[in-house]
Amino acid sequence: MVKKLIDKLEADTRLSKEEWVCVFDDYSDDDRAYAAEKARAVAHKYFGNKIYIRGIVEFSNVCKNDCYYCGIRCSNSNAQRYRLDDDDILLCCDEGYEYGFRTFVLQSGEDYSAYPASRMAELVKRIKSAHPDCAVTLSLGEMEYEDLKLMRQAGADRYLLRHETATKEHYEKLHPAKMSFEHRMECLENLKALGYQTGAGMMIGAPFQTNEYLANDMLFLREFEPHMIGTGPFLPHKDTPFKDMPKGSYELTLFVLSLCRLMLPRVLLPATTALGTISPQGREQGVLSGANVIMPNLSPAQVRKKYMLYDGKICTEDSSDECRHCLTARMKRIGYEIEVSRGDYK
Ligand code: 5AD
Ligand code: FES
Repeated sequence: MVKKLIDKLEADTRLSKEEWVCVFDDYSDDDRAYAAEKARAVAHKYFGNKIYIRGIVEFSNVCKNDCYYCGIRCSNSNAQRYRLDDDDILLCCDEGYEYGFRTFVLQSGEDYSAYPASRMAELVKRIKSAHPDCAVTLSLGEMEYEDLKLMRQAGADRYLLRHETATKEHYEKLHPAKMSFEHRMECLENLKALGYQTGAGMMIGAPFQTNEYLANDMLFLREFEPHMIGTGPFLPHKDTPFKDMPKGSYELTLFVLSLCRLMLPRVLLPATTALGTISPQGREQGVLSGANVIMPNLSPAQVRKKYMLYDGKICTEDSSDECRHCLTARMKRIGYEIEVSRGDYK
C-alpha cells in the first residue's frame, strides 16, 4: 500500500492528507528503501552526483526568543553568549572562499538590537563586493517586511526560516505565547514576495508531533513551494524544557528527505548537521536518500561550542579546513563530488 502511494507521489508530486497520514502510519524499512532509491534517481536527474556546499557563519548566539526546544533560548543562563564583529564575519567568508565556498550563510539568534537590518545590509554589501561571485543567505529569524526588503536590496539572495510546524496548535506547544504562528507564516510569504530564494522546514520528531501534523507539514511545503527545505531530527538540549523529550527518529528523517525530493524534485535539500549528529553516517545516508546540499560550519573555532542548539552537535572541535576536507572524503566514498558554484535554485 505505501509503495503505491510512493509511486503516486512520484508521478503526481502530491498526495492528499489522508494519504500522507497513511504513509507515515504504515511505512516499513522496505518502503523507506523504495522511496530512497526513487528519490536518489530524481536528485541524480537534476544534480548528477554533485553536492552543493554552503558555509555557515554562526555570528551571534544571543537570542530574544525562548523556543522550548532550542539551546540558545534566552532563558538558558548556562549558554555563554558571543557576538562576532563585522570584520570577523568577513574574515570567515574570506577563509571560506579559499576553501571553495560560493555561498555564505549568516546565521544567528534573533539579535536585532545588536544586528539591526541596517547593519546586516551593510555587511551583505561588504561580502558581495569582496566576493561578487558568491550568494549570501541570511538566517536571522522573523523580521518585518521593510527590514527584509532593505537586506534584499543590499544584495542578500536567500533566507532560511523554518516554519517549524504547519499546525498552529503544535506551534503553540513548541513556542512561548509571545511568538505567533501567523507572524512566522507571514514572514515566509514576505520573503518569497521580496524575491528571496526561501527555505522552510521542520524538525522530525519534535515534541508532540503526530503523523497528522507531519502530513500538514508536507501539504504546506507542497503548497508554499520553498526553494530549500531544512529538516533534521529533533535532538534534546540539556538546558531546555524539552531536555527529557525523546529525540526524533533517524529513519523517519531519512524517509522524509526522500519524500521531499519526490514531492519537490528540484528543491535544495540539505543533509543537516542534526542528521550528522544523530548518526555518524547521517549526512551520507541523507544524500543517499535524496539530499543534495551540505552546510558545514565556517565559524571561528573559539565560538563553535557555544552555538549549541542541541546536545552533541558535531564539528565543534574541528576547523573549517578540517570539515571541508572531511566532507569531500565522505562524499567521495559514496560516489558524490562537491560542486564549487553558487548552486542557485533553478
Ligand atoms: N534539535 C534539532 N533542531 C533544532 N533546532 C533548534 N533547536 C533544535 C533541537 N533541539 C532547529 C530549528 C531551527 C534551526 C535553526 O535549528 O528547526 O529553525
Ligand atoms: Fe566537520 Fe567532518 S564535517 S569534521
